Amino acid sequence: MGFSKDFLWGGASAANQCEGGIEEGGRGLANVDVCPAGEDRSAVITGHKKMLRMDGYHKYPAAEAVDFYHRFREDIRLFGEMGFKVYRMSIAWTRIFPNGDEETPREEGLRFYEDVFKECQKYGIQPLVTISHFDCPVYLIEQYGGWRNRKMIDFYLRLCQTLFTRYKDYVTNWLTFNEINMILHAPFMGAGLCFEEGEDEEKVKYQAAHHELVASALATKLAHEVNPENKVGCMFAAGSAYPYSCKPEDVWEALQTDQENYFFVDVQARGYYPSYAVKRLERKGVFPQMQPEDQEILRRYPVDFISFSYYNSRCIAASEEQEKAEGNLFQSAKNPYLKFSDWGWPIDPLGLRITLNEIYDRYQKPMFVVENGLGAVDCPDGEGYVEDDYRIDYLREHIRAMRAAVEEDGVELMGYTSWAPIDLISAGTGEMKKRYGFVYVDKQEDGSGTLDRIKKKSFYWYQKVIKTNGEEL
Ligand code: BG6
Repeated sequence: MGFSKDFLWGGASAANQCEGGIEEGGRGLANVDVCPAGEDRSAVITGHKKMLRMDGYHKYPAAEAVDFYHRFREDIRLFGEMGFKVYRMSIAWTRIFPNGDEETPREEGLRFYEDVFKECQKYGIQPLVTISHFDCPVYLIEQYGGWRNRKMIDFYLRLCQTLFTRYKDYVTNWLTFNEINMILHAPFMGAGLCFEEGEDEEKVKYQAAHHELVASALATKLAHEVNPENKVGCMFAAGSAYPYSCKPEDVWEALQTDQENYFFVDVQARGYYPSYAVKRLERKGVFPQMQPEDQEILRRYPVDFISFSYYNSRCIAASEEQEKAEGNLFQSAKNPYLKFSDWGWPIDPLGLRITLNEIYDRYQKPMFVVENGLGAVDCPDGEGYVEDDYRIDYLREHIRAMRAAVEEDGVELMGYTSWAPIDLISAGTGEMKKRYGFVYVDKQEDGSGTLDRIKKKSFYWYQKVIKTNGEEL
């Protein structure tokens, strides 16, 4: 019993949070490059402050990140040493198409990822590729307004066609958009949206979401055409919404929060806009404009599997008075029964089992947990060694809950990639000190450090977890 023999253990990262090298290989500028660390970050990632160029005043953590661009061989060797079966990573769109609307891809960018895949192959690691992990060329934002514009579908599909064809021999598992529901909470980061004064933001967000949903369906079609072996997944930020109390108003509010997130997966996995969404969006006057063929496209090309990130459950109250807790990019009410991370995120391993059950009940498709982990402050000793028992505890409990969902509840699970195998830049805050890795990177908040990689205690622990296929935790 337990996890299947071919269960895919590994780790997950995103190009902009680990690669750096943003001026190398003719790469163009992306939305994620111009998200500064510090107090303006929130206004920028939510589309309320338009800063499409780097200035001399802000710090831009993606510029160097942890230099995976130059150190990927060493990093992948470490993943191999831990026994990874899969490495989830993303493509920087602007390495392949610097502006985003070119006809021809850049060979240098394509070669970089080919080298990464070849390196993975050496260690028997299969890549799981997120085509867009919070990634949109700045040029497409300036010229077309990002995903609010339907033309984005064609540009994105050109990228997909290029990737599917070129990497046919290396990659068969793809994710179309990272945390697609984040478009509602971080629309600049998720979809390159900058809002104009007085515009109906909700309307723009759902229009952009519709374009991404159609693009995702067409990418699925294309992936299957290029290689029938290809499997395509959607990816959303999950975490069940618990009612704050059994008061019906709290329950109703929690249900609506879940629906807001499941809306995306409902479309991607079932192939149509669910009735609650149609009604709600129409009522608010934000139902997106569609082309006559869209409904057929969504219906014909649903995803093969459902992937998601799980960091925490959410607790929802009808009244605004409850004390708030942080969480993956948005707040919810503070759950009095849970402990919290250094960044105030709830820690709820059983919530992962609940979420797995909920998703499986809803879709009956294979699932993949593609992000889960603990962002914490690590204190290395004189040798740079970190004894991160807190991280091991977090992961152990979550893997245990996941095993129960598989073993006792019978959910279908393809694999687990923890966020992140190596320390990297935080998406929410742009901080370096918020560390998730099994491998410590000697880079400090002020940018100083050697960038050396040092194995943490959790490195050896995860190695054993993989070796025993999750039996020894
Ligand atoms: C998810 C993203 O939102 O959570 C990752 O897909 C991100 O890109 C991760 O890094 C953890 O969030 P944070 O804000 O701690 O980096």
